[in-house]
Amino acid sequence: MSDPRLAVIEKRFEKVGKIIAVSSGKGGVGKSIVATSLALDLKNRGHKVGLLDLDFTSPSTHVILGVEGLYPEEEQGIIPPETHGLKYMSITHYSLDEPAPLRGEDVSNAIIELLAITRWEELDYLIIDMPPGIGDATLDTIRFMPRLQFLVITTPSKVAYQSVKRLLLLLIDLDISIIGVIENMVMKPGDFIKSEVKKLGVPYLISIKFDIELEDTIGITKKLIETSFYYKIKKIVKKYLED
Ligand SMILES: Nc1ncnc2c1ncn2[C@@H]1O[C@H](COP(=O)(O)OP(=O)(O)OP(=O)(O)O)[C@@H](O)[C@H]1O
Ligand SMILES: [Mg+2]
Repeated sequence: MSDPRLAVIEKRFEKVGKIIAVSSGKGGVGKSIVATSLALDLKNRGHKVGLLDLDFTSPSTHVILGVEGLYPEEEQGIIPPETHGLKYMSITHYSLDEPAPLRGEDVSNAIIELLAITRWEELDYLIIDMPPGIGDATLDTIRFMPRLQFLVITTPSKVAYQSVKRLLLLLIDLDISIIGVIENMVMKPGDFIKSEVKKLGVPYLISIKFDIELEDTIGITKKLIETSFYYKIKKIVKKYLED
């Protein structure tokens, strides 16, 4: 019954400590910038960190990091190239900025293939920038990745939260570990998300304000780490991700 690829993938993650999926039921809520910032801060705190961009249809962590032209080495699998002190895998190592010629089942297969061939070796943390929504890409990642813990991002919007709630209910139903919910891009204080999340018995971690400086830091991590946004990221790392 079990897929033979499961065992291969499990072996690839054998020496990886925490595996954290940054996810949301909704697009455009800040998953990629949160995932990238978490990886950078964990690395700055002395941990061995990998960053995996699993958003094959619109990868963006490379834009936030400001990197291009990275090529993985191939040797009994593929070795993630290093950048910013992170082991870093993204579909853009192969496709650059061309539209990924993948759809539906192809995306699933490509994700599973990447999980099966990437040699992460020893890591304290692997941060995964997940594709938006709860489509096949998310479901396959849940199915094939061992020991996944979810960090779920929402905005204060009731519309966004409807989709985020569906993801949370799915994770609860599948008995997947949820570290908690981050409320991002907050412009006006309010309790809606906090109380909704509590009703589901999920931890509400932090609220991050909309930071008008953030856009100017895209591609320049030296500037990113000086923002109020990143200050909140550091709090999350200290309080919820380090033991
Ligand atoms: N707290 C914030 N303040 C201001 N801008 C923000 C904040 N969080 C994210 N952004 C901006 O919002 C945009 C979307 O962020 P990001 O790409 O990380 O979202 P995403 O959820 O990964 O989107 P997608 O679903 O397309 O993958 C980016 O331009 C980012 O800089
Ligand atoms: Mg993204």
